[in-house]
Amino acid sequence: MKKTIQNLIDPSDLSIEETQEILDLANQIIADKDSYKNVCKHKTLATLFFEPSTRTRLSFEAAMFELGGNVLGFSNANASSATKGESIRDTIQTVSCYSDIIAMRHPKEGAPLVASQKATVPIINAGDGGHNHPTQTLTDLLTIQRENGRLDNLTIGFCGDLKFGRTVHSLLKAMARYKNITFVFIAPKELQIPEYLITDVLKQHHLPYQEVERIEDVIETLDVIYMTRVQQERFFNEQDYIRLKDTYILDLKKLTHAKTELSILHPLPRVNEIAIEVDEDPRACYFKQVLNGKFVRMALIMRMLGLDKEVSDEY
Ligand code: NCD
Repeated sequence: MKKTIQNLIDPSDLSIEETQEILDLANQIIADKDSYKNVCKHKTLATLFFEPSTRTRLSFEAAMFELGGNVLGFSNANASSATKGESIRDTIQTVSCYSDIIAMRHPKEGAPLVASQKATVPIINAGDGGHNHPTQTLTDLLTIQRENGRLDNLTIGFCGDLKFGRTVHSLLKAMARYKNITFVFIAPKELQIPEYLITDVLKQHHLPYQEVERIEDVIETLDVIYMTRVQQERFFNEQDYIRLKDTYILDLKKLTHAKTELSILHPLPRVNEIAIEVDEDPRACYFKQVLNGKFVRMALIMRMLGLDKEVSDEY
């Protein structure tokens, strides 16, 4: 009997084995989509998005629809009673009455954790401030495993806003658990990876890492490059954002010395970090990543609702 996954707040809430089970299920869904179309019949997902989103919210909703389930929620805090001063606790207790599982995005770090303490249904963190984004991490892991054929023995470069990018923080924590991973952090000094991750994750586990400022200096060593946008909404000062926003633009020239097996990932939205000309390059994986995000969320919803047993005629 598998252990229940009560909530997914941080990528380390899933063991390596549980993570792999979800990726395996996502691969099974990709191979045989029709078998899953009624798995979540009569189940309801609530999507509570207090911060903007295109892919995460819509992929959660598309995932639930493809599983035959229902969806309700809001895509904007202004459309909820948060504007009247309602607390997260009260909102969550209310929405727990209407749904079987909740995906929640919030600008405040820790908000989904607080929600999980009051909810009577499972909570999935769909991004909390500059902190974590575990379902994007599952998407990224599935993409790397499908494209590179493995999750170990990789050199992975993170490029852009490594300070505020929650997708970077989550993926770093998850990748740190696989064997023989080398991390390369490509960022201006002001946007480098936070010290707590260096100390608590990299140094504590004696993992090799390098901090650099230029893509060209390391591109030939990378198996994966994870591009990110500068997180405008988390800057205190508009001038700093304007100065830093176009620091990195990955174009075909910068890819000249890259490996042919390189995977180029980006959680999206893209602003200017990857030139459009790269989209046609076989190494560009960011739109495959979008599609993988839907399948991995289907797998996660099934697993968290305990509906991931052998799919049979009963569905
Ligand atoms: C990311 C996010 O919201 O953190 N987007 C996403 O979920 N795919 C990345 C970003 O906004 O830059």
